[in-house]
Amino acid sequence: MFYAAVLTVSDRGFRGERPDEGGPLVARLLEEAGYAIASTAIVPDEQEKIESALRELADAGDIQLLVTTGGTGFAPRDVTPEATLAVCQRMTPGIPEAMRYASMRVTSRAMLSRAQAGIRGGTLIVNLPGSPKAAKENLEAVLPALAHGLEMLSGRPADCAKLEG
Ligand code: MTE
Repeated sequence: MFYAAVLTVSDRGFRGERPDEGGPLVARLLEEAGYAIASTAIVPDEQEKIESALRELADAGDIQLLVTTGGTGFAPRDVTPEATLAVCQRMTPGIPEAMRYASMRVTSRAMLSRAQAGIRGGTLIVNLPGSPKAAKENLEAVLPALAHGLEMLSGRPADCAKLEG
């Protein structure tokens, strides 16, 4: 079983002005897909705070998948992608490419998400947009393929020839 953490990035959610709907929804979807949720947290849209949270969670060594929700758009305070780029050692561009490709069938605004994904140590970090609807649509686009990547990342023998979702 893989362990996952969910990090919500939202000024209003952090201040308690708006309930965090995206984070719990993402956690539920991950649980339904067989992940154990090791941690959920909320940080404001501040690059340093996002970076610290990502580093702390990834460097603890017991989380294989770290999913963020929020802060991927064009608003001046949307800096989740920059924080993700700053902490990752290897980027995995196919994941956000697949999310935007799938999401373009839902809305052309999918192109406005600047979401990134990448690897820090043994942890895969994946950005999702902030609205619960968008977070769900983006996560569902890539979730079936992630476990195979996590197996490879963990060094377990993974058979690429075997067909999977
Ligand atoms: N992707 C899907 N699948 N569905 C959506 O409704 N919304 C888009 C985009 N990606 C959307 C989506 C919109 S309107 C924006 S602004 C960006 O995600 C960034 O969202 P964020 O700023 O909440 O991270």
